[in-house]
Amino acid sequence: MRTVDGKNDETNLPFVPKFMMRSTSRADFLRLGGRCIAGSVLTFGLLNSLSGCASEPTAYAERTGAGVLTTGPGGKAAAPIATAPHYPEVTFMVFSDTHLYDGTLGTSGTAWVDYMANDRKLLKDSEETLRVSFEKVKLEKPTFVLISGDLTKDGERQCHEKLVSYLRELADLGIAVYVIPGNHDVNNTDAARFLPSGEKMKIPTVSPKEFASLYEDFGYGKALYRDPASLSYVAEPVPGLWILALDSVKYEDNFRLNTPVTSGRIRNATMPWIEARLIEAEQKGKAVIAMEHHPIMEHYDGMKAKYPEYVVDDNWKIASLLASHDVSLVFTGHFHASSIVQHRWNESAAATLQGKSIIDVETGSLVTWPCSYRSVKLSGDGTVRITTYRVDQLPSYAAVSRSFDIDGKSIIEEGIRNIATSAMKNLGVPEEDRNILSSQIVDAMMAHYAGDAHFTGSEMLRKHGLSLMGQLVVASYDHFIQGLWKVRAPANVELMEDNNLVIAPDGRLAIFLSSVLAMGKDFPLVV
Ligand SMILES: [Fe+2]
Repeated sequence: MRTVDGKNDETNLPFVPKFMMRSTSRADFLRLGGRCIAGSVLTFGLLNSLSGCASEPTAYAERTGAGVLTTGPGGKAAAPIATAPHYPEVTFMVFSDTHLYDGTLGTSGTAWVDYMANDRKLLKDSEETLRVSFEKVKLEKPTFVLISGDLTKDGERQCHEKLVSYLRELADLGIAVYVIPGNHDVNNTDAARFLPSGEKMKIPTVSPKEFASLYEDFGYGKALYRDPASLSYVAEPVPGLWILALDSVKYEDNFRLNTPVTSGRIRNATMPWIEARLIEAEQKGKAVIAMEHHPIMEHYDGMKAKYPEYVVDDNWKIASLLASHDVSLVFTGHFHASSIVQHRWNESAAATLQGKSIIDVETGSLVTWPCSYRSVKLSGDGTVRITTYRVDQLPSYAAVSRSFDIDGKSIIEEGIRNIATSAMKNLGVPEEDRNILSSQIVDAMMAHYAGDAHFTGSEMLRKHGLSLMGQLVVASYDHFIQGLWKVRAPANVELMEDNNLVIAPDGRLAIFLSSVLAMGKDFPLVV
């Protein structure tokens, strides 16, 4: 299992607790489990949580009189009154993690089989899924489309060029597109062609400069501002609304490490650039929405502890900078899950943050069941209406009387199940326990991918009648599984409905349309 700086690589499925991803010996597991039983450290999950526990977010954007950025609680000035964002009326659509793969690069041979054994993305179907979802875009005719990174399988120049050709179809219909890179898109050392003979051949990837050039018509050429330190930019798709497109990818390190880095950060040099743009937006009366590949908040309890590479580094610093300048919507991706969370700052926060809130709208992936994407309607009074669609069937599947939804789901389920069961086998967990626990882990992870996870069963993880090793696995997984089922909220974060909701102008009321859907009302969840 490849790691970068000791962290899991997303290509190997971002869903298995770390003790399973790394080569933990049975002796280590028992030793740690013994500590669990002794009560000093209850679970691996807790152990991880303690090491990465989120602290109370502090203000970033407290400014000195000279305009120099400082960190710290601040809070001496009178609390501002939170005001509704002055959005223009506009509808746009949001995609993430399209991971487009050009099938002519090969989908057979032992190298391909080996790759897919560790990476269960629906890559063979990626182009058709994109085509079907773009047909929906053409029908809806939004004003613009956002794609928040991981545009390609592994940054292959050929795959980028193919995506550009699809984006041009939208542009030709007057639908603007704005993209930002993900961790797979630039300087990717894994860019390869797969030969039927079983070999893998390196092929060209793209540099940051080439990325901006390829997507000149999809963000970079239309930008009002470009960040000199990164691929971040600002665009104004409709009068009065700015998109702050943030480059959170660490591609500078990829060639040195000979592997793409999964974690993300906003460069130090970019932070003052962001603030300068946000101040200008305030002065000019522009509403701002942001997008970046890496989430800016935890989406389940313990996410930062278990998967630090799936939340942007220094996330509260970035969140507080954005919120202090009234950016309350950030569109992200990376985990391939449909999930929405919110943080609100209360009266104990810095003056610039009191009463402010920020919502991280994480969109799923077109190559991970349930292959979702979103439509967002902003209203002039600040109301935000989010609708989520899925690709549940493809023409090629229908032609042979198969269901893309069922087959796609089972491929992802099998990926999770295989990793979980083989890891438990290595730890000496008996087969009967492995089968029970792996099914429950699969259910929780799939619920998180789909969003609106509401557990209705009798127990999330079997607690009784297990072997000692089975019990230790349950102790390790319990916290994580409860987080996926949304029984626990992450620190400082409020859980929201994930797929269909209306957020009131002050951000304090979300009408849960998914509940309406569950009652059988007509609502366009599925295309
Ligand atoms: Fe991705």
